[in-house]
Amino acid sequence: MPGHPDPVLTPVEWSPKGEAIAWPEGPGRHKVVVFGGIPDEQARVRVLHRGRHQSHVRFVEAVGRPHPNRRRAPCDRYFVCGGCPVMHLDPPGQERFRLHLVRRELAAAGLDEAALAPGGVWTAEEWDYRHVVKLGVGRSERGRLRVGAFARNTRDLVAVPDCPVVTPALRRAMKVVAHHVIDMDVFPYEPATGRGVLRYVVMRQSRATGHILVTLVAGRSSRLLRALATRIQEGHEAVVGVQLHLNDTEGNAIFAAPDGEGAGFSRLAGQATIEERLLDVRLEVGAGDFFQANPVVADRMAADLREAFADLRDRPVVDLYSGVGGFALVLAKAHGFAIGIERFPGAVERARANARLNHLDAEFLAGPSAELLPRVAQRVKGSGPVVVVDPARRGLEPGVIEGILALEPAALAYVSCGPRSLARDLATFVEAGWKPRRIRAYDMFPNTAHVEMLTVLEPPTPPVPTRRRPRRRRVRPS
Ligand SMILES: C[S@@+](CC[C@H](N)C(=O)[O-])C[C@H]1O[C@@H](n2cnc3c(N)ncnc32)[C@H](O)[C@@H]1O
Repeated sequence: MPGHPDPVLTPVEWSPKGEAIAWPEGPGRHKVVVFGGIPDEQARVRVLHRGRHQSHVRFVEAVGRPHPNRRRAPCDRYFVCGGCPVMHLDPPGQERFRLHLVRRELAAAGLDEAALAPGGVWTAEEWDYRHVVKLGVGRSERGRLRVGAFARNTRDLVAVPDCPVVTPALRRAMKVVAHHVIDMDVFPYEPATGRGVLRYVVMRQSRATGHILVTLVAGRSSRLLRALATRIQEGHEAVVGVQLHLNDTEGNAIFAAPDGEGAGFSRLAGQATIEERLLDVRLEVGAGDFFQANPVVADRMAADLREAFADLRDRPVVDLYSGVGGFALVLAKAHGFAIGIERFPGAVERARANARLNHLDAEFLAGPSAELLPRVAQRVKGSGPVVVVDPARRGLEPGVIEGILALEPAALAYVSCGPRSLARDLATFVEAGWKPRRIRAYDMFPNTAHVEMLTVLEPPTPPVPTRRRPRRRRVRPS
């Protein structure tokens, strides 16, 4: 890069993380990652880190006409926090960015982008939408205790008390937690030395009830934590429970193996779960369980999923990566019966309880999808089930696609938060003769680089009429 302290460059492409990429020395040579940049917009940038092969810079100002989709990011922590890398794009710009990410991955995997559903990206409110926050506990440069978000590309903590994308009640909860952690001098845990106590604070708010469940993630147990929990609960009327999760592992994972045996959650104050809702299904959600952070978009996806299988209501449902059972139970209501597979035993317990709570006929098996699919195949043999998968960002692990094909499904819906792994897995289904009929994109996390997708696939041959009902163990309503 030129020696000027604030060089000028023109990015040419997007990174998957929402930064703009420039190649000032020619394609494939020195890469410059521009936070706050936009491809095709000439900009003055400030160098943050200069490496041998790659530099990191941040946008300062447009040179000439600003990009038509540029706006001033309405958050004073935009550059330091980095949690919302495309907040500098207006909503149409963000939509174009997300569609571009999906199209690019489909094309790279040799797939036809015509499968993308018309109508763009489905989006809801772009502010106050986040119902989950994950905060770190550490110290500022001056050694002061701090509870905040991790800064972009570092482990430094940034206080984000006015974060515009979380719900107003969670904003207030963040302030209450930070106040009491600092007031009580609860030291941050240091994995290397084993000193200190608190590592992370995770909070989830239910859209259905407004209740908040707080999880204190600590490196070791301490009497201070119970006192802190009481203060947090007394300091915010929506906090109905505070859980403790012990995690003394090295590395940056918030939860120590949440899918392991006895995942290490215990109650410090109040309730252990909160009630959420997906469409008209009631769901108890625990502290370590996965549940969508944007319940409005989750509802829309569940409704689209139900609609996608509307002609196949006589078929049983198999839901892989079922979490606390949301999609499985919405579909069990329409189809009469569902089997879910989920690796985290705690979430399976909640899913079973949720089936009883809603008086629905559904079973949930605990373990990895690849391992349990053959057992499910025996159960649903000949019934031509409809299958839903909603894996983590890395997509379907080895053995899962073969296991799904062995079920001889009448249709498949793939819910994904990773355009690259989705495209890779779709390509494998396409090789097996399946047709992606419709890929719909959702803006689950406005202002971030995330995109959620629901793809409906049709089998190589039209579904045969159901020959038999699945073998089932009835779940008795409680
Ligand atoms: C993206 S979440 C989806 C959860 C659920 N469908 C929902 O919308 O709430 C992925 C889920 O898969 C589970 N999981 C991860 N790896 C798994 C595996 N190999 N087999 C089964 N479940 C797995 C996680 O514990 C998590 O609950």
